[in-house]
Amino acid sequence: MCPEVEHITIERMGENDLEEVARLERLCFSDPWSKKSFEEELKHRFSIPLVVKCNTRVIGYVCLWHLYDQMEIANFAISPEHRGKGIGKMMMERVLLEAKKRGCSSVMLSVRESNLSALSLYAKSGFIEVERRKNYYRHPTEDAIIMMRNL
Ligand SMILES: CC(C)(COP(=O)(O)OP(=O)(O)OC[C@H]1O[C@@H](n2cnc3c(N)ncnc32)[C@H](O)[C@@H]1OP(=O)(O)O)[C@@H](O)C(=O)NCCC(=O)NCCS
Repeated sequence: MCPEVEHITIERMGENDLEEVARLERLCFSDPWSKKSFEEELKHRFSIPLVVKCNTRVIGYVCLWHLYDQMEIANFAISPEHRGKGIGKMMMERVLLEAKKRGCSSVMLSVRESNLSALSLYAKSGFIEVERRKNYYRHPTEDAIIMMRNL
């Protein structure tokens, strides 16, 4: 547990974080990214992978893709035991800051239509639905809702 907000930091994901990030990814998603996928995120020029840590322990992560003047949230998760404490909101504030800092005009993401907690977080963060992609996700098959926030 990490009750003290001052113990929480958000920093660039490094090699040493990969094992824990991949473990959390398997806990959080039914169709998880592999450890190799996260390793690739560390190398791409357009990719901005961040981890949220409580002291030195990874408790969340986000992978951003900066493409032209747009930021895409490719992956976003908080460890199950640390949810409901405002950490997702804090991570989203950092995402919006990164996007503004890099001169982006908008932030995009896609989310499963059944993912009500994420949909609620995104709506509260100013994202609106712009498109729906039929059967976009696998395991289970499900529509994607594409959301966007102008900066
Ligand atoms: C979605 C997720 C990132 C939210 O993180 P979190 O740290 O629990 O979120 P916060 O505590 O900052 O809450 C922010 C808002 O999210 C929404 N939210 C969070 N948990 C919720 C829940 N169980 N039910 C409904 N809404 C919820 C609320 O709108 C909340 O605002 P509020 O506190 O004013 O009610 C987290 O549940 C998660 O990692 N889920 C699994 C991975 C995932 O689905 N990622 C998104 C993929 S698109």
